[in-house]
Amino acid sequence: MERMETPVTVVILAAGLGTRMKSHKAKVLHRAGGKTLVEHAVDRALALTSAERVFVVVGHQAERVRAAVTTPGIGFIEQTEQLGTGHALLVGRDALSHLDGNLVIFYGDGPLLRAATVRRLIETVDASDAAGALLSADMPDPTGYGRVVRGTSDEVTTIVEQNAATAEQLAIHEANMGIYCYRAELFWRHAVEMRPDNPAHEYYLTDMVQILNRAGHHVRAMKIDDPRECLGINDRVELAEADRLLRERKLRELMLAGVTIEKPETVTIDGGVEIGIDTVVEPFARILGNTSIGENCRIGASSIIENSILADEVVIGPLTVVTASRLERGAQAGPFSRLRPGNYVAEGAHVGNFVELKKTRLGPGAKANHLAYLGDAEIGAKANIGAGTITCNYDGVHKHPTRIGDGAFVGSNSTLVAPLEIGDGAYLAAGSVITEQVPADSLAVGRARQVNKEGWAKKRRARLAAPPAAGK
Ligand code: UD1
Ligand code: CA
Repeated sequence: MERMETPVTVVILAAGLGTRMKSHKAKVLHRAGGKTLVEHAVDRALALTSAERVFVVVGHQAERVRAAVTTPGIGFIEQTEQLGTGHALLVGRDALSHLDGNLVIFYGDGPLLRAATVRRLIETVDASDAAGALLSADMPDPTGYGRVVRGTSDEVTTIVEQNAATAEQLAIHEANMGIYCYRAELFWRHAVEMRPDNPAHEYYLTDMVQILNRAGHHVRAMKIDDPRECLGINDRVELAEADRLLRERKLRELMLAGVTIEKPETVTIDGGVEIGIDTVVEPFARILGNTSIGENCRIGASSIIENSILADEVVIGPLTVVTASRLERGAQAGPFSRLRPGNYVAEGAHVGNFVELKKTRLGPGAKANHLAYLGDAEIGAKANIGAGTITCNYDGVHKHPTRIGDGAFVGSNSTLVAPLEIGDGAYLAAGSVITEQVPADSLAVGRARQVNKEGWAKKRRARLAAPPAAGK
């Protein structure tokens, strides 16, 4: 018989405000490792099950938290009053209790938790006859955490919260990480037995351990070696720590996969970034968003690459900013270039220092090597754009396009007033102001003809040096 996987439902608790963040934004909307905390939780859930079985419990700034979750199909449960972790489940009873299989619960504020760890927790339940399992860790200082009280066997009898624990229980170092997998049917059958009979008058999800024990079931604890994986973020110091750890994890992954990263402690690479082997990333580079970089590329020091696609062998010089652009094989940009959104730089094209591109296509082998602004432009193969070339693409109201043909030569300091078309192989004289179409293979000169007045300067000097004429 084919082995049937137990279906998994994931509930993410994200209703809290996170007072200690001291923010106008709900805690889960803060970012670490390039993503909001709630996105981390949702992405992890999606690694474990399908969107239709992922639910986020929202409360504070519910609308904004919903908006931060872009994957379609994910369910939301409104918890308007936050009466505790158990209450967060109880308000979702109608939406959740008919879903069979395993019920996985974790928080929206723990971005370091790996899907693989949760998967092991699920397997622990599947491989046993336990009603559920939770993640625990031995902590040198477990202050603030629920303590895991074990019975004579390895099973957990109770979780006691800090504020309800006896001195003896407070001495336990095994802490509850707040990550659970329960058999859904058993969980929902007994969930109504949770009561707010504790000093905080909250419904404690942790009470489910004792409740299930009382009903003759047992719950396991799966110890993890590194409690940092379960770090929940409460303030901005922890946010920075999580960000650092996520980035270290990403850099390590990339290095082990064949990417050279110089001075990695200075480099920032978002989780969604892909980089091919033998690419070198220089110090202080920031590679962000959904960027994909090919093999054998070089990303120069202090460059910022965001939401862009770089094919193989692309060289980005130092201090270059590339946003939402695509560079093909062997293309080069920088040092000191700025590619604003929407550019396409074809194979072997070069963008040099102090060149700004916006919504511009550079054909194969085209070069704009120094000091230019090219906006809404289409530049042909092997065209050469001289230093100081400016496309005047904006008339104060509308943007206009500029087309420059294959092999065209744009002389230095040309001003191209769009809309404009420069034919293939045309040649623009340096310093021209071009306002009209230039036919292919012609020369356009758009400036006043030079006049030389011989001896003028010398005469002037003499005139100014002569003593003033004798007065009256
Ligand atoms: C909880 C556990 C504790 C464990 C710790 C691990 C309980 C009673 N205690 O304590 O044993 O050691 O986590 O971090 O569960 N939330 C809601 N709605 C609510 C209450 C909380 O969505 O009504 C969310 C919060 O936004 C937060 C998470 O659940 O992200 C945890 O809640 P919190 O109150 O911080 O629980 P702890 O006191 O940390
Ligand atoms: Ca907490």
